[in-house]
Amino acid sequence: MFARSFARIARPAASSMKARAFSTGARASAAAGSRMATFATAGAIATGAASYAYFQNAQSPVQADSKPIAGVKGTFSERTFIAVKPDGVQRGLVAKIIARFEDRGYKLVGLKAVVPSKDLAEEHYADLKSRPFFGGLVDYMTNGKAPVVAMVWEGKDVIKQGRVMIGATNPLDAAPGTIRNTYCQVVGRNIVHGSDSYESAEKEIGLWFGKAGELVEWSQANSEWIQSDN
Ligand code: RTP
Ligand code: MG
Repeated sequence: MFARSFARIARPAASSMKARAFSTGARASAAAGSRMATFATAGAIATGAASYAYFQNAQSPVQADSKPIAGVKGTFSERTFIAVKPDGVQRGLVAKIIARFEDRGYKLVGLKAVVPSKDLAEEHYADLKSRPFFGGLVDYMTNGKAPVVAMVWEGKDVIKQGRVMIGATNPLDAAPGTIRNTYCQVVGRNIVHGSDSYESAEKEIGLWFGKAGELVEWSQANSEWIQSDN
């Protein structure tokens, strides 16, 4: 039912990511490659699980089973990309960050430790390309002193709520109780990333979890205790 593989994979080049195929019923395949030490959760669910394609440039990328890569916005299937950055990994805060999302009742559907390529980091932070700290940011994410722990979390309003839980970019502005307020002092070492919009979630999940079998469909046994209205 639930397959997990430790694999070394290569990130697909951004240019090759216009079309991607996913299979929720397949094990994560190990491909040759790069420096990405990958802990890929790969999963299988029910019989005849769907295969589907995601077209990056489509207006609304939809899988064959009608579920977009970032889920359906505003529903319990909404997904966001959360990453513990190398400073968070070095400081041993991975479990604490995961616990915040688990404790909220969100569902973990993708997880791996990755030393991203320069291409991947540059694409991930492409909107910051003109900023003076861009080079340093990319180096810090990619120099291999620690991996990035990349995750996809699923649940109601998880994109916005994830950002609220993380707190403001500058930890000095982050509200008490947020992750950055609790653990950080400066913007350059704010330990965690979260998608800032549905469109960003689509892009980022595709970039970091774009290979077949990297996301896991599964049912939370306690979902009715998390999701029910009266
Ligand atoms: P993130 O994308 O990592 O979740 O952060 P964010 O949305 O809160 O902030 P954003 O403006 O997207 O900035 C991305 C990351 O760049 C690094 N940064 N360093 N002056 C600096 O050294 C500086 N300024 C920004 C931070 O890691 C920030 O989270
Ligand atoms: Mg950002």
